[in-house]
Amino acid sequence: MSSLRKIAVDGIEKLPIYEPGKPIEEVARELGLDPDGIVKLASNENALGPSPAALKAMQACAGEMHRYPDGGSYRLRRAIAGKLGVAPEQVLPGNGSNELIELLGHVFLGPGRGVVVSDCAFVVYRLVAAASSAPVTTVPMRAFTHDLDAMLKAITPETRLVFIANPNNPTGTMVGQDEIDRFMAVVPDDVVVCFDEAYIELLPPERRPDTLRHVRAGRNVFCLRTFSKTYGLAGLRVGYAVAPRDGIELLERVRQPFNVNAMALAAAEAALGDDLHVERTDGMVRDGLKQIEAGLRARGIEYVPSVVNFMLVKVGMGRERFCRLQTEGVIARPMDVYGLPEYIRVTVGTSRENERFLEALDRTRG
Ligand SMILES: Cc1ncc(COP(=O)(O)O)c(C=O)c1O
Repeated sequence: MSSLRKIAVDGIEKLPIYEPGKPIEEVARELGLDPDGIVKLASNENALGPSPAALKAMQACAGEMHRYPDGGSYRLRRAIAGKLGVAPEQVLPGNGSNELIELLGHVFLGPGRGVVVSDCAFVVYRLVAAASSAPVTTVPMRAFTHDLDAMLKAITPETRLVFIANPNNPTGTMVGQDEIDRFMAVVPDDVVVCFDEAYIELLPPERRPDTLRHVRAGRNVFCLRTFSKTYGLAGLRVGYAVAPRDGIELLERVRQPFNVNAMALAAAEAALGDDLHVERTDGMVRDGLKQIEAGLRARGIEYVPSVVNFMLVKVGMGRERFCRLQTEGVIARPMDVYGLPEYIRVTVGTSRENERFLEALDRTRG
């Protein structure tokens, strides 16, 4: 054993390691399965694949990969700003929205500078807070949904940041416009609110809360979005933050010079204009949710109704079921890390993939 642990910064050793959805290749290797027969429903990816427009853009720029990317993400920033009706200076692309969560941690968190999150919120918020030695206050959800009133009450003078994933991962639930506006009306001005909207494009337009109105009003709000989900570009790692100009400027100071790679920039810009892919994805998700819900109901299995492309399913011993599903060639996600040991989370896939999941549930019962 080397002595590196002794040299590392205090507390690093105790940080939890993020457990991602298992890659198909890894499960195939570990269990001796044919990768082609494995279905991955573990990371809320888009089963239709990347936007075709993005694929074309990637091919077109492949020959330029000896060049550094545009460190200022000029074109992508303008494309996002144009689409959302904000100024380019209010947008910052990042290496996935995960990077932007981390940058928020660098800028706002530290010892005595804490966060408020729901107990079943996306786990990366807590990891980022822990990495900054920031205190974390977790607030119980109500019916698997953020309890914004309770989150408000949990704010103390040492709170700097409140994370609200909306819709939330892993619960698949959301808070609506009225609740958000009521929350924003009373949240103190020295507390930053981050609305993490990784799945927002999967909601019908009339159900999408407009949180950008609070950015436009100059409130201390960061909205995070990603190309990993609806746009099908998780492997490229590109997301973005929308915030008041001074907020973006602060993030600029702590990011790496070339935080988004050139292929990701080109693909994201193309994907942003590919409304047809978004529409197709939305159709697949709506049909898939119905299919999985009907299958679970027919089997008498409880689930948490979801508005997005994944769902919590109550299977009893979640981690054990997750392992057994893997031997059937279906990768889901155990939820013990979220304090939900009886649940697994399954991503909505193609109709065939959803069927494979339901059949595998039957074979791993009892
Ligand atoms: C709520 C939420 N925020 C952020 C992310 C991170 O996404 P990205 O791939 O953009 O880093 C995810 C991914 O699962 C998520 O569910």
